[in-house]
Amino acid sequence: MSTGFAINQYPDVDQVYKDLRSLISQPIRSIRKAEMDKIISEYYDKKCARSKKMIAEASEYIPGGVQHNLAFNHPFPLVFTKASGAHLFDLDGNKYIDFLQAGGPTVLGSNPPVVRKKVLELLNSSGPVTGLFHEYELKLAEKIVQLVPSVEMFRMLGSGTEACMASIRVARLATKKKNIVKMGGAYHGWSDQLAYGLRLPGTRHFEANGVPKSVFKYTQEFYPNDLNALESVLKRNRWRGGTAAVLMEPIGPESGTRPLDKNFNAGVRELCDRFGALLIFDEVVTAFRVGLSGAQGYYGVTPDLTVFGKVVAGGYPSAGGLGGKKEYMKYVSAGIQTGMKKALIGGTMAANPLSSAAGYYTLCEMEKTKACEKAGKAGDRLTLGLQKLIKKYNLPFVAFNQGSICHLETVGTMLLEINFSKFWTIKKTIAEAHKRKHAMEEMGAAYMAEGLVTLAGSRLYTSAADTDAIIDDALKRFDRVFQKVEGVI
Ligand SMILES: Cc1ncc(COP(=O)(O)O)c(C=O)c1O
Repeated sequence: MSTGFAINQYPDVDQVYKDLRSLISQPIRSIRKAEMDKIISEYYDKKCARSKKMIAEASEYIPGGVQHNLAFNHPFPLVFTKASGAHLFDLDGNKYIDFLQAGGPTVLGSNPPVVRKKVLELLNSSGPVTGLFHEYELKLAEKIVQLVPSVEMFRMLGSGTEACMASIRVARLATKKKNIVKMGGAYHGWSDQLAYGLRLPGTRHFEANGVPKSVFKYTQEFYPNDLNALESVLKRNRWRGGTAAVLMEPIGPESGTRPLDKNFNAGVRELCDRFGALLIFDEVVTAFRVGLSGAQGYYGVTPDLTVFGKVVAGGYPSAGGLGGKKEYMKYVSAGIQTGMKKALIGGTMAANPLSSAAGYYTLCEMEKTKACEKAGKAGDRLTLGLQKLIKKYNLPFVAFNQGSICHLETVGTMLLEINFSKFWTIKKTIAEAHKRKHAMEEMGAAYMAEGLVTLAGSRLYTSAADTDAIIDDALKRFDRVFQKVEGVI
């Protein structure tokens, strides 16, 4: 039966946490040193020589040699020249199965011809940008309103970061309250105020280098799956200017790396209503990957505002947007209107014809081809196969998925716990996180050398372009990598 959603079976959340806790209680199991040395000398140095040379040259002009955070791969980033469907090709002519999918936006697979054709037609007529209204803005907004029931109006912005910023401005204007409570461990872009509680819940401002601590006066975090913790923050905020919004990813922080109990979102909704805070779902990853009505459609929970990104421009640039009820969206209306305070929102490239057309045709094609479900089935097949391999080699690794968002935890870095009541343990936990992160990078390097591109060696996005044959081929490659892990003979 067709559900329209990518998730066919919700992960057994308790079991996932049990397995993850077991993983982080054990010593790191990464690629054997001799094998890692061989991978670097035989694959990277010999077969990726042109990439190596270009990145060395780029390091002279570009800090770190690459600019996209997801391109920082160990031992050095590779240069990619071609992307098509489920595959990527590097400068040296090596072919890869693409489970990065540009960080999530390409549910149809890379560079789908149907969308490309329409984008080229648009480029031939108006070019990418005019700064003036284009019909595709209307078409895309109409489409999103039709697909996502909680969205009555939509405003397109330049990125997910911008859309998150806009959402909290709107929440403050609408509620006249001050505080923003975000779920710990989640990334909501890199704006000052939200550079808080990143990666590991409880880390507060630890990663906010360059941001004065005073910026976080009205930002708090709460622990995933802990409604009592959220309630405590909301209660405390009553005496500190109130809570304007609770901001969270509906599948859990970092695309569900810490999965949420299935009824958790409903609990948050209830608390928001009780405390008069808006509920903002950051669906930058999940809309329209989990389903065309977003993760909110899957969970059946209605947020007040929804943050969009990635798929909203189908993998083309300038992907961001805010949607919600008219009573809130009026605060981001463009143009001069007197009598009402409006949020400061802008962006030279926001809602340009190219992004709008790409987003519109991507959503139409996804709807026509049931892309979310196809990508989800590929995710199920991949995860099941990985779980079998983990068993076969008796590894402590953990694989689980929420449809086309697959997690392969080999070190569990993101699951470490920060305990402020035992402040003397914090430094040790952070040092352990760094050690585990390096092991994860080595796993990523080993996958890449087997022709598998992953997100930081621990997350894999599947797409509608992933056939059963492609997934089975990928599993054979994972099998070869697992054979190189310490303790596997
Ligand atoms: C959940 C979430 N929110 C916000 C963002 C920021 O979006 P952007 O990279 O478009 O600024 C990201 C980016 O990965 C994300 O995953």
